[in-house]
Amino acid sequence: MIIFTLLLIFIVVFIVIRCTQRSRRLPPLPLGPKPFPYIGSLIPMLKNKPTFRWIHRMMEEMETKIICIRLGHVHVIAVSDPKIACEFLKDNDEIFASRPDCMSGYLTSDGYLNTSLVPMSDHWKNMRRIIATEIASASGHKWLQNKRGEEADNLLRFMYNRCESNVLVTEEVVNVRIIVQQYTSNIARKIMFGSSYFGKESADGGHGDEEIEHVESFFTILAYTYAFCVTDFFPYLRWITDFDGHERIIRSAIRTARKYQDPLIDERIQQWKDGVMTKKDDLLDVFINLEDPQLTPDHIKSQILDLMIATFDNTWNSIEWALAEMINEPRILEKAVHELDSLVGKDRLVQESDLVHLNYINACVKEALRLHPIAPFTLPRVASRNTTVAGCFIPKDSQVIVSRVGLGRNHEVWDDPLTFNPDRHMNGNKVVVLTSHNLHMLSFSTGRRGCPGVLLGTTIAVMLLSRLIQGFSWEMPPNEPRVVLEESLHNLWMA
Ligand code: HEM
Repeated sequence: MIIFTLLLIFIVVFIVIRCTQRSRRLPPLPLGPKPFPYIGSLIPMLKNKPTFRWIHRMMEEMETKIICIRLGHVHVIAVSDPKIACEFLKDNDEIFASRPDCMSGYLTSDGYLNTSLVPMSDHWKNMRRIIATEIASASGHKWLQNKRGEEADNLLRFMYNRCESNVLVTEEVVNVRIIVQQYTSNIARKIMFGSSYFGKESADGGHGDEEIEHVESFFTILAYTYAFCVTDFFPYLRWITDFDGHERIIRSAIRTARKYQDPLIDERIQQWKDGVMTKKDDLLDVFINLEDPQLTPDHIKSQILDLMIATFDNTWNSIEWALAEMINEPRILEKAVHELDSLVGKDRLVQESDLVHLNYINACVKEALRLHPIAPFTLPRVASRNTTVAGCFIPKDSQVIVSRVGLGRNHEVWDDPLTFNPDRHMNGNKVVVLTSHNLHMLSFSTGRRGCPGVLLGTTIAVMLLSRLIQGFSWEMPPNEPRVVLEESLHNLWMA
């Protein structure tokens, strides 16, 4: 008995010493607010909404480019430096290639059936492969070119109708936000479903009630996805309460989006079954006819919602900001007009084949993505194991969020970072691309979870700005000297 007790004591002491030695050897966690036991920094987070501004403020106050905020048992690691971002997203891409298991991701993807919000899995790998061949490939892109072209023409028709209508007589001239959102969501609907409208097109070519409600539901889903929902950090609470009300709101928005989309999907599946459809015409047809792997109706519905939102998400915001900045700075607008006049001319409308030659317009879009990203952070990545990055210990299951404003507005990287200056991206005759693989800005991100929609996203955004500039002369409404370039308090959209 005595020998057994001594042996037990010896083993316990040995384990304690080993653990202490190991923890001594571990590098420190990144700097961060001192967490309360168990709840971490939950209370300051709730007191300092919006959370993204609180995180950036703390990083500035602590003069750190990487911060660790403990929320419940989760370490949230925010990064605002390109070199450190590269260490996470490029050097350690394999470790950080998953997404968190959370309420918004689970509900929006209908139980992780989509691509962008699913934790690492074979399903994700299959979906990435499908997107790469069917959407991101040059042939897939070309296949849908006519549909995008029709929308680019529809955009001009709609604006022309607006300018011709009596609305011009009043002070409310053209609401750019409506135009850019309409164009981007129309393209998303058109390439997925073959039609930009759910209901009847309104007389002037604009959105009807159905499309307006559909787009609004996207905003809500986007606003509440990875929105620091309390129950994500205290998962057992979810069974008791929807603590901050996020779940009710996002469920309702998903229901709204899907009430328009899902019946069309069911109907089309039936048409293929009945032999009424025999030729693929849009991405929905592609998803229905996949063989490796075959997608269930639930997978198709989830995937379509994912791609609709992804297509709509970044593009409208960047062009709204770009145009506003350019109207305030006529020299930049004139340069863009000059480029269009000299490379495309005045006798025809700009086409997709022109876009790659429009270096200055591409630079304007890139500058808007740098200075005015739609979201403060990129989608979170999850550490699949303990590791060390930038000399700091990153525990398994940490959620890493790279700050898009932290990179894009970083004064160590960019001269005069808060000024809209497309010329900074011009490099002789070199083609300007919207990606940034050194992560000096975060447009499409990089690595396994980087955006697969670079070609489509670039085409939609550059075409939109080109057509708006080529088709119309822009100036401020009477009595308003400049566009007020102020961000909203709760997100990064123009206030
Ligand atoms: C200007 C337009 C766009 C921008 C700036 C943009 C940006 C991004 C960013 C920053 C991410 C997160 C990447 C990461 O976690 O590291 C992302 C993910 C994603 N984007 Fe885009 N995107 C754009 C357009 C599109 C389009 C048109 C599509 C449609 C195919 C698309 C599909 C996706 C998907 C599916 C993901 C999730 C990837 C994954 O988790 O594996 N995006 N995008």
